[in-house]
Amino acid sequence: MRILVTGGAGYIGSAVVQELVEAGNEVTVLDNLSQGHRAAVPEPATFVQGDLRDRSFVEQVLADRRPEAIMHFASHTLVGESMEDPFLYLDDNVRCGVNLMRAAVNNDVDRFILSSTANLFGTPDRIPIDEEAPVEPGSPYGESKFMLERVLHWLDEIHGLRYASLRYFNAAGAAAPHRGEDHDPETHLIPIVLQVALGQREKIVIFGDEYDTPDGTCVRDFIHVLDLAQAHILALRALEDGSRVYNLGNGKGFSVREVIDAARRVTGRDIPAEVGDPRPGDPAVLIASNEKIRNELGWTPEYDSLEAIIESAWQWHRRHPNGYESSE
Ligand code: UFG
Repeated sequence: MRILVTGGAGYIGSAVVQELVEAGNEVTVLDNLSQGHRAAVPEPATFVQGDLRDRSFVEQVLADRRPEAIMHFASHTLVGESMEDPFLYLDDNVRCGVNLMRAAVNNDVDRFILSSTANLFGTPDRIPIDEEAPVEPGSPYGESKFMLERVLHWLDEIHGLRYASLRYFNAAGAAAPHRGEDHDPETHLIPIVLQVALGQREKIVIFGDEYDTPDGTCVRDFIHVLDLAQAHILALRALEDGSRVYNLGNGKGFSVREVIDAARRVTGRDIPAEVGDPRPGDPAVLIASNEKIRNELGWTPEYDSLEAIIESAWQWHRRHPNGYESSE
């Protein structure tokens, strides 16, 4: 299949591109490299550098590449940043997504997969979180993804654009050895913990230990990027039978302290930790119900232990201590 992947040079996008290419698809990556890395794009994929804000450019890329399906990863993705700069999300994220969706309709692309987020559910009152949980975005970031889900809903109604919205919980792990997490600045828990293990940082600061959880630290549902990738491949196939929305996580929660302890076991290194202030906006517990995607698509996560997820990330970080820098 001919598939256009926006943000395919980023952490999650490039792992999905790797799996799409291996499955024999003809992939075009569209990325402005504001956060992504050229070296993350696997060899057989065609790379086009450019910006989704530029509507005529986007139309041209679709007219040239004639994709049969689009996967849209390109996005600002940080909850905290969105609380400081809401327009980056409520304007930029939404505008870029809508430009792409308009181009999809204009160029007769009828299959679309959106990277959505667990932040749609803000601070949920029921765990695990299933697809029926009330949507109450926890930040402008979550709101921007929900707005895009609503646009897709109407484009399906009006133009027959079939879509899947995949609401990721905490993406983690690496498509090691070649692809992994490389953000600047890095804000995510597992890469920061592994940077401490490598001696690149002095310590990990735990953002609060007085939450209503067994050890007082936040609990998150970590899902391996390659399991995320498989879900995209299954969802794309299932679009034959119509649009759909799935929550996408392992269905298990691990606390920040459990992550640090598991990283100590995996790396065999001492990882100094200290407790700091809570980070504003962090919900205590986020765990997905993945029943729907398991039942409907037969998806099962391969990496369902925390150690296996951290081990793959550790392979990447050890081999690429400065991320993609050495390969660019
Ligand atoms: N944490 C620390 N110290 C750090 C970094 C993180 O204690 O230095 C804690 C956070 O407080 C949180 C947990 O580790 O409790 C995970 O934090 P991350 O920043 O790794 O991930 P988030 O849960 O904040 O957010 C991620 C994605 C979002 C997505 C969300 C959905 O970045 O895009 O998961 O669950 F919306």
